[in-house]
Formats: sequence, structure tokens, C-alpha cells
Amino acid sequence: MTPATTTTPEWLAEAVASGRLDAGWVQVFAALPRSLFLPDVIWPKDPDSGQNVRVDRRRDPSGWAAWAEQDVPIVTQWDDQPDPAAAGQTATSSSSQPSLVAGMLADLDVRPGHRVLDLGVGTGWTTALLAARVAAGTVVGIEYDPAVAEAARARITAVGLVADVIVGDGAAGWPDGAPYDRVQCTYAVRRIPTAWVEQTRPGGVILAPWETTLTHQGALVRLTVQEDGIASGPFLWPVRFMGSRPERTPQIDRNDYLPPGGGWPPGTVESATRLRPADLWATPYGPAWWMIGLLVPDMVYATSSRKDGTVLGWLFSLRCRSWAIAFFDDAPEAEVYQGGPRRLWDEVEAAHRWWTEQGRPGHEDFGLTVGPDGERVWLRSPDRPLPATLAG
Ligand SMILES: C[S@@+](CC[C@H](N)C(=O)[O-])C[C@H]1O[C@@H](n2cnc3c(N)ncnc32)[C@H](O)[C@@H]1O
Repeated sequence: MTPATTTTPEWLAEAVASGRLDAGWVQVFAALPRSLFLPDVIWPKDPDSGQNVRVDRRRDPSGWAAWAEQDVPIVTQWDDQPDPAAAGQTATSSSSQPSLVAGMLADLDVRPGHRVLDLGVGTGWTTALLAARVAAGTVVGIEYDPAVAEAARARITAVGLVADVIVGDGAAGWPDGAPYDRVQCTYAVRRIPTAWVEQTRPGGVILAPWETTLTHQGALVRLTVQEDGIASGPFLWPVRFMGSRPERTPQIDRNDYLPPGGGWPPGTVESATRLRPADLWATPYGPAWWMIGLLVPDMVYATSSRKDGTVLGWLFSLRCRSWAIAFFDDAPEAEVYQGGPRRLWDEVEAAHRWWTEQGRPGHEDFGLTVGPDGERVWLRSPDRPLPATLAG
């Protein structure tokens, strides 16, 4: 392959220097800079402001080219709209951060000749990188959004590579291309679809961002499919990806849980907590909050603050109309109010206690097994599944 760029971006040089990426990948990345896979209007995340900034190649070609090389995620679609010209509320397609792409490809351990299933094609960059890497192997990509898939298909063809880009829900996989040696997903799932396991050959690897309803700060799981058809393996590191399109969590309306006029409904229970936001959601990629999402299923949270600095932490059940709220001010204990059939705050306290008793394990201490009887998260060893229930 002819290198399209002469300078090696810093994130790539680092991935090679650390030994994560082998020489075969360096050549592939050099031949396929991500600028070849981006639309004219892009929304890179500015690391200084934390905001997505709009950059239009037609107005600022050098700025656009510089952002394309930066080690930042770039939003390429908002709110499922085909035209990315205006900002929206929710990023619905993007080009992931290059160092993250390189890290995932290293963990996927793709070799020439492999058959690969790439779920969430997006811009087509990772699909093209895979197609170049497997050489005479096969790459099948699946993308939910037809317009996004079509643009990716055109870009992959334009660089002279071959990959089948299918429009559909990645959850079904693509049986016609099976068995795969490697399955990679670049959107977050809450359950590994059985189709992925069935379509991966024994010894093959499935790599996917896995999250709970509680937080989009999930973790990358790397499963190896065994001879008996069971897939098992560790969580590797925390990641944040956009979720699977057909599995989006519905917007919560507080009026469905609490009386609209204010006040606590009959049956509200009052208590206090010594936990602080930093013990829970306020530590970016903190293992405690991720683990609480595992142990307290079907729950979402929201925060707000008052002018006096008090932080309000809300919990809502997706299964029933249970809710909880804690008021964090300067006092060592926060007031808690809970209602409905579940005691959500008590469940969170119990999960946090359990995590502390286990020695505060990190993401990489957990693992996942997917078998015919469903999915099981474990701590440190597949024979130590997480407790099904803790509260009470
Ligand atoms: C983070 S982007 C993918 C980045 C991509 N690998 C690249 O190199 O540009 C995630 C993509 O997954 C797609 N997606 C989300 N849910 C999906 C699903 N259930 N099946 C297939 N594609 C899905 C989105 O439309 C989006 O384009």
C-alpha cells in the first residue's frame, strides 16, 4: 500500500512505541488517513472547551485538515438527520477518537486472511482499515442508517478497498458471511446478541462496548467463543460510545413519577446518606458507578443544581414508577426521599457497600459470559457471578 501521509500522527506513534500496534497496522493507518472518510462539515470535540465545534472544509480547508488529524472524536451526524450542517442535541454518528480506534484494533488482534464482522460502520474508516489489514480476507460491515451506510460504501470504494456494507440492525449479525474470526462493534450494547456468538467460529473474538441503562460510560468487553458455543472474557477498559439505535432509553418525564404540583406522594420514605456525588456519578469513568449499573438494573439517573449550590441527584426505575432523590449540600449527610415499590437509593447503597467489601474492583476485574441461558457478569473469575440481588 502507498502511504497517503508522510508524517506519523502522535497517537499512532505512541500506539506503536508502546507495542500495542504491530508494524502491519502502521502501514495501513498511513495509507488510510481519517480525512479520507469525513464529510465537509465536521464537529470535532475541542479538548480545551469540551464542546463540539463546527468546521467546514469549504470555508477552512487547513483547519478542517488539522482537526481530522487530531486525536479527538468527530461527530458527523446529529439527531439522525442526514445533513450535519446544524448542531443537534444528540450525536448519532461519528468518527471515534483515533487512539481509541487503534486500541480497539490492537485488542481485536486482526490478522491477514481473517473474516471480520464490523458493526456500526459510521464514516467507514474502521471498516476500511480492517479491509486493508485482512487483505485477502473478508470484511462485512453493518450500519443502521441507510444514508450513513451509502456514504461509507462510496468512501471505501474510492480508496480501492472491498468490504460489504449492509444496512440493518447489527444485532442480527450477517449469517451469510459467517463464521467470523473477529466481530467488532463500535456502538454500545446492553446485551451481547446471541447471533454474534453463533456467527463466530470457536476461538474467534467478539469485542464490544457494553453498558447498562445507568450510564453511557461503559466498558469494552473481549469475549472468546469456546468449542461449546459459550463466549466468555474480561472487560478491558472503560469506554463511552453512542448506544445502539433501536435500543435507546426513553426520555424520563418526572411527572410520571412524582405529583406535578410538588410535594412528596403518600408512602414517601425519608432517610440520609453519607455517599457523595464523587462516590457515584461525579467521577468520570469511575468503576463504582459502572458497577452500580450492573447491580441495580433498569435504572437511570439525572442531576440538577440549585442556586445555593445544592446538587440534586435523581434516580428513576424503568421497570416501575419507583424514584429517589438525594440533596447534596455542605452537610456530611445528604437527605434522601424515596417512593414506589423499589427503594432505589437503598439498592445503590447496598451495591456501593458490596463493591467496597470486594476491595473496590476496577472495570478490568469484571468479565462476562454469554451462553444459552443468557448473560452473566462475574468478578475476577467466571465461577464468581455477581449477586442477583443485594437490597433488603
Ligand atoms: C461511533 S459510530 C461508528 C464509528 C465508525 N466505526 C467509524 O469508523 O467511523 C457508531 C455507528 O453505529 C451505528 N449504529 C448504531 N446502532 C446500530 C445498530 N444497532 N446496528 C448497526 N449500526 C448501528 C450508528 O448509526 C453510527 O454510525
